[in-house]
Amino acid sequence: MTDLTIPSTPTRFEPPADLAASANVTAEAYARAESDADGFWAEQAERLTWAEPFTQVLDWSDAPRARWFVDGKLNAAYNCVDRHVEAGRGDKVAFHFVGEPGDTRDITYAELKDDVSRAANALTSLGVGSGDLVAIYLPMIPEAIVAMLACARIGATHTVVFGGFSAEALASRIEDCRAKLVITSDGGYRRGAPSPLKPAVDAALSRLGGQSPVDHVLVVRRTGEYVPFDDATDLWWHDVVGSASPEHTPEAFDAEHPLYVMYSSGTTGKPKGILHTTGGYLTGAAYTHHAVFDLKPDTDVYWCTADIGWVTGHSYIVYGPLANGVTQVLYEGTPDSPHRGRWWEIIERYGVTLFYTAPTAIRTFMKWGREIPDTYDLSSLRLLGSVGEPINPEAYLWYRSVIGGDRCPVVDTWWQTETGQMMISPLPGVTAGKPGSAMRPLPGIGADVVDEEGRSVPNGSRGYLVLTKPWPAMLRTLWQDDERFVETYWTRFADLGYYFAGDGAKKDEDGDIWILGRVDDVMNVSGHRLSTSEIESALVSHPRVAEAAVVGAADETTGQAVVAYVILRSGDGNNGEALTQELRSHVAKEIGAIAKPRQITIVPELPKTRSGKIMRRLLRDVAEGRDVGDTTTLSDPSVMALIANRDTESAGA
Ligand code: PRX
Repeated sequence: MTDLTIPSTPTRFEPPADLAASANVTAEAYARAESDADGFWAEQAERLTWAEPFTQVLDWSDAPRARWFVDGKLNAAYNCVDRHVEAGRGDKVAFHFVGEPGDTRDITYAELKDDVSRAANALTSLGVGSGDLVAIYLPMIPEAIVAMLACARIGATHTVVFGGFSAEALASRIEDCRAKLVITSDGGYRRGAPSPLKPAVDAALSRLGGQSPVDHVLVVRRTGEYVPFDDATDLWWHDVVGSASPEHTPEAFDAEHPLYVMYSSGTTGKPKGILHTTGGYLTGAAYTHHAVFDLKPDTDVYWCTADIGWVTGHSYIVYGPLANGVTQVLYEGTPDSPHRGRWWEIIERYGVTLFYTAPTAIRTFMKWGREIPDTYDLSSLRLLGSVGEPINPEAYLWYRSVIGGDRCPVVDTWWQTETGQMMISPLPGVTAGKPGSAMRPLPGIGADVVDEEGRSVPNGSRGYLVLTKPWPAMLRTLWQDDERFVETYWTRFADLGYYFAGDGAKKDEDGDIWILGRVDDVMNVSGHRLSTSEIESALVSHPRVAEAAVVGAADETTGQAVVAYVILRSGDGNNGEALTQELRSHVAKEIGAIAKPRQITIVPELPKTRSGKIMRRLLRDVAEGRDVGDTTTLSDPSVMALIANRDTESAGA
């Protein structure tokens, strides 16, 4: 969040006339959804193929626990794959896969159906079935998608763990969800070199020891590099899946059958297992993908650059786009391998029309300079999307003009792992775009900005972002922790029945919504969600650290950056740079490289209130180079001067 100042008269870009004239969704959708929400969502559910029809759209009698499309039965993998083949579109490319080293592979819907069926048969032969949990720890390769769909096909619940997470983080997730099977690969390609994955699985399992719930590890061969192999548990994907039959009859599961658990950082040290179920989730993902991208499945080529390890990869690479039968690009690597024009080269090569990425990537490209994208033909693009963090107006304008040639609308889509689907976003044929604003709740979605008491704030004011109505892809609970589910999202405005999103927001003079970022102890680094207390626990687990406080400080490229203040154990001398490097690596080992602090400052004290609560606001002031505000509530106001001094020293070091 480099730039949170909201201009008093923001620029407006009206929808392009040709797009508006043939838009999938017109302004009537808002009124239709408003007057008959059940009817509206029932229509959207009809995008899917149901094995048994639902008898009720929403059962909210046990709020906040929702049941959507009651009694309906369906198979998610059938909806994403088979039905397109049955409709005669088997030869259509589902994925143009681009590996980082330059290998490419086109996979048609018919091939995808065979691959998913083989994998489903293989999982069944390994004793995995409905109700079992499968952990997926893979790079961005087609097998990741095949693995997810194979689980869905047999009713197993997947939990995909981002490949950048450490062995420790993987172990805690495997343990929490009691995964029976882990699907991984020898490694993947990153920044021009093979990067191993399987050793992290081995380390995770050996950490769990006798407590490990895992029977087997299924290993995809991607890099061909040597990996240690344990014949008792490890199996090669190409042996087990490769030899399985491509015939498999999908079984229909209840609309509320658990589809996946996605772990996400909350305000405590322990990640939350966010549970999504089948019918409502698929409806929400498919509808929003159709509406917000104005998807024309016969002609569009769609590319979402998110990793499969995050919710964006789930909803807008796997479930939404495949349910809609689109052709998409899947890219394994980083934007600068082997050169900084790689993404634009891919867009040119495949004629990408719809492109979805994160502000942090856009800001990086801005730094690299427009000369790079300018050398490619990006004229196939017709719409650009943004997700994951507030997009600052400067980045929005650059994206629209340099990448979108001033002709493509930009849709800034606000949503969360918990919401499963986009919630606040322009509709490209209806809503104007204002750089920096996510604009309006989508048809059928209720969102508002409220004060402490839950009263809607007037236009021009700030407050808390809430969701006022249930929606189909909403999380159903937190895995094994229903109490925390209610407490985290539904107690703040319990009397009003609002879901509290954890974000601050502003309504501008037109009533359009500007997201201001988190109001809790959750940070957003490069569009990835990190918890301050999770990083603090990681730091404190180092033998030399007595206490730690972590804040998210504004950063020009990553939106926010992790900044840590650490007190050493008494008698422990500070050996400067070597120690801070060691602590940074320690955090990477405990959580993953994305959580590495940008800066660690060793301090003698932390600013605390008289009741002992750390005042992070003051640390954020220091980290962002501001004068420290009011310190009168501190038990020892002189602390801040000491910290500010140390901070300048360590930043200069
Ligand atoms: O703070 C908001 C921010 O990302 C948070 C959700 O993070 P996560 O669950 O990891 O999901 C990211 C991908 C959907 C939100 O609470 N956020 C997400 N999209 C936007 C955003 N902030 C501003 N504008 C957005 N478009």
